Amino acid sequence: MTQDMIDRAEATMRKNDRGHYTVPTHGLYPFQWNWDSALSALGFSRFDEDRAWTEVETLFAHQWDDGMVPHIIFHQHDDGYFPGPDVWGTGREVPTTGITQPAVAGYSVHQLYRRAQDRDAAERRARALLPKIHAWHEWFYRARDPEGTGLVAIIHPWESGRDNSVDWDAAFERVPTEGVMPFKRRDTQHANPEHRPTQAQYERYIWLVQHFRGLDWDNSKLHDASPFRIVDPGFNAILIRACSELADLARQLGENDIAAQSQAYAERGIAAMESLWSDKRGQYLCFDRVTAELVDNPSSGGLLASFAAIPAHRARAVAETIARWGEKVTYLVPSQDPESPDFDSLRYWRGPVWLVVNYMIANGLERAGETKVADRIVADSLRLIEESGFAEYYSPLDAEPCGGGSFTWTAAMVIEFLTRETQS
Ligand code: DGY
Repeated sequence: MTQDMIDRAEATMRKNDRGHYTVPTHGLYPFQWNWDSALSALGFSRFDEDRAWTEVETLFAHQWDDGMVPHIIFHQHDDGYFPGPDVWGTGREVPTTGITQPAVAGYSVHQLYRRAQDRDAAERRARALLPKIHAWHEWFYRARDPEGTGLVAIIHPWESGRDNSVDWDAAFERVPTEGVMPFKRRDTQHANPEHRPTQAQYERYIWLVQHFRGLDWDNSKLHDASPFRIVDPGFNAILIRACSELADLARQLGENDIAAQSQAYAERGIAAMESLWSDKRGQYLCFDRVTAELVDNPSSGGLLASFAAIPAHRARAVAETIARWGEKVTYLVPSQDPESPDFDSLRYWRGPVWLVVNYMIANGLERAGETKVADRIVADSLRLIEESGFAEYYSPLDAEPCGGGSFTWTAAMVIEFLTRETQS
């Protein structure tokens, strides 16, 4: 049974493999996505080490000079996706978008290094990636934390990966739609429109893209010029964890400056995360930098914070919150509190379960010793696969598969769960 599931996951990943990068799924997402690739590399590392390294190397081959690593790399022309390179207009030889995504790569590369059988290749490849990943982290703290708070902001919901989370609703009211180009969405031709963001959200996504393009994608300006500036606890936790993993890796490679600076970023970030804690919700919350207020909404972004080494009593409280949510759903972890009036079991990041989020939460809780909840998350994840295959996301109520099918990172996470080591 286990081996059969691993084989099916591997076949799904091979199907989406385009040689030096993978697409998240055929049709809906026909290019390389940043955090998809970093998480997919973990899956590859269990059956094709060389291919795992290549996935991350391809991503970093398209890093910008300022250190930013884009959220999509448009390796080949495909009309089936909107917004394509012409809308982004970043002027790169191989076109990319001009925004970024969660910084998973530092975590993944350390895992690849730890797991490698071919030690010489791992050392060579990790050594080459190390300064590039570090430059990305430096870019984050320079461009997205100009006041040195220890936490970075996202300037577009697509950066978080949690595109239409309820977390962004209030801030999105401030994003205008006047002057948005007429456009035709393509996502709703590949997936059920009821499972996708709304038209009103898309207009604001595109307004922001046009706004940043009007500033020539100059990252020294974009943060302050964006009407959408949110500090997302999940996004920051991933970056903090990546910094501390990179510190470990750098120490092993004798790169002491990178190790020290990465460690300092991680420690400062963990301390600053305290400002996002909500006793009332039993979780971390987003912070809106424009209004200087916490966003009092219970989404999985505040639970994903457990991927970083948060204090033990916070991890305990997050585990209790997840257990409470678990009484209302059949499958953990819904992306929005199932008791919240905004919960929608099928619509993208407003309720459905995502295996990548499950993986990172379970990993963090397990490290914090919260194994009971971590074990349930893993068990629920595997039950979803048995019920509904390798979908993009799932209803937490009845496992209805949503969005795209044959999904690369879902398959990669299944391989991770089934080859799980403790304390990895
Ligand atoms: C999409 O097109 O839905 C993506 O999530 C943007 O990254």
